[in-house]
Amino acid sequence: MLTREENELLVRVGPGTPMGDLMRRYWVPALLCSDLPAPDCPPVRVRLLGEDLVAFRASQGKVGLLDEFCPHRLASLFLGRNEENGLRCVFHGWKFDVDGNCVDMPNEPLESRFKEKVHMKSYPTMELAGITWTYMGPPEKEPAPPGMEWTRAPESHRNVSKTLEFCNYLQAVEGGIDTVHSSFLHNNDLSNKKALGQISRSPRLDVERTSYGFRYAGIRDVGEIGNYVRIYQFVLPFQQFRSSRIVKTDGQRAAIPQNRGHMWVPVDDENTIIYNWIYATDEDRPFTKEYIAKYEANAGRGPDGEGAVRHQTRANDWLIDREVQRTKTFTGIPGLNTQDLAAQESMGRIVDRSRESLGTTDKAIIMYRRILLDAVRNLQNGINPPGVDPDTYRGVRAADAILPKDLPWQESAKEVLIARR
Ligand code: FES
Ligand SMILES: [Fe+2]
Repeated sequence: MLTREENELLVRVGPGTPMGDLMRRYWVPALLCSDLPAPDCPPVRVRLLGEDLVAFRASQGKVGLLDEFCPHRLASLFLGRNEENGLRCVFHGWKFDVDGNCVDMPNEPLESRFKEKVHMKSYPTMELAGITWTYMGPPEKEPAPPGMEWTRAPESHRNVSKTLEFCNYLQAVEGGIDTVHSSFLHNNDLSNKKALGQISRSPRLDVERTSYGFRYAGIRDVGEIGNYVRIYQFVLPFQQFRSSRIVKTDGQRAAIPQNRGHMWVPVDDENTIIYNWIYATDEDRPFTKEYIAKYEANAGRGPDGEGAVRHQTRANDWLIDREVQRTKTFTGIPGLNTQDLAAQESMGRIVDRSRESLGTTDKAIIMYRRILLDAVRNLQNGINPPGVDPDTYRGVRAADAILPKDLPWQESAKEVLIARR
């Protein structure tokens, strides 16, 4: 539970808000590289941390990220012409380069030097691992580029997709942190009592602060063979790593060893874009196209499911089928990821956390909020937030394993938590 004031502090991300200032100290995903597939292709709108921007790929390939509105009379540059190394406003022809300099002003007299005085808001960009990142904070505080293990995996070993979520980032992240819901929300076979019985529905949670955020373990007793332990990493401000190496509690391993994760990036206070990443951790075990297609489809994304364009929303009750809910699945909602989205969006755009009743399995969520609150307050006293420096998280990965019961997981899982790339 939070006070209303604490809740407000955490959920507001626009320019000038304390949380907005915090998020602006990190490189954040602005769009997928594939959203701008070629030099001089059409520009796209980007709304990020409550700011309306436009992105374009210039002739030499560099991505510009500018204020959406032309500084002349504020026509949208989304309508603009992406010409030779600049975006030209369609209203009176002013043209801007990727750094926001006005490079042509054809409606002013030739001898006018007005264009030298016009400069528009622009943010630096960087392309890494299929994502175009931007930094929106004070220039002198710009950190080193993001350095997660997945960003170092070659394209053959990695995939990134995105999903739109119609609620505040915090409840979206909290849905992702929550480890317990899978036995309920994602139980897609009500008849499989055995599977449910095998795994305890209420794992013990262990949560630890780290220099980049926190890590936590969901520990389930699976009888004689030991504990099934899922260890998650959380890098501030909004990124989680998870592992799905073991697919069953009998120790069977996934076809391709991997880590997966999400970044929940605030579009504004009421909308979020989730960047879903997955990478194969073993050098000699890359993904196949079929594998990725199936993985995305299983998650309810991809060509036949929910992608960046959503078909299952509050407006159609996420296509809940009450007959399926009665006889087959816990929710009656098709698509694994859509089940998550439905639960989170059903709370409303911004949750009032002063009304919650948190239990023992909400420990990791409580930790996340505490760390964010500390980071926001510390930043106001000039202290750099956790997770800004890539050196703090470069060497970590998530893991899941059957571990002995008589050793702490921090010990027995030590080796498998080290990034190898
Ligand atoms: S509004 Fe863009 S050039 Fe006039
Ligand atoms: Fe889920």
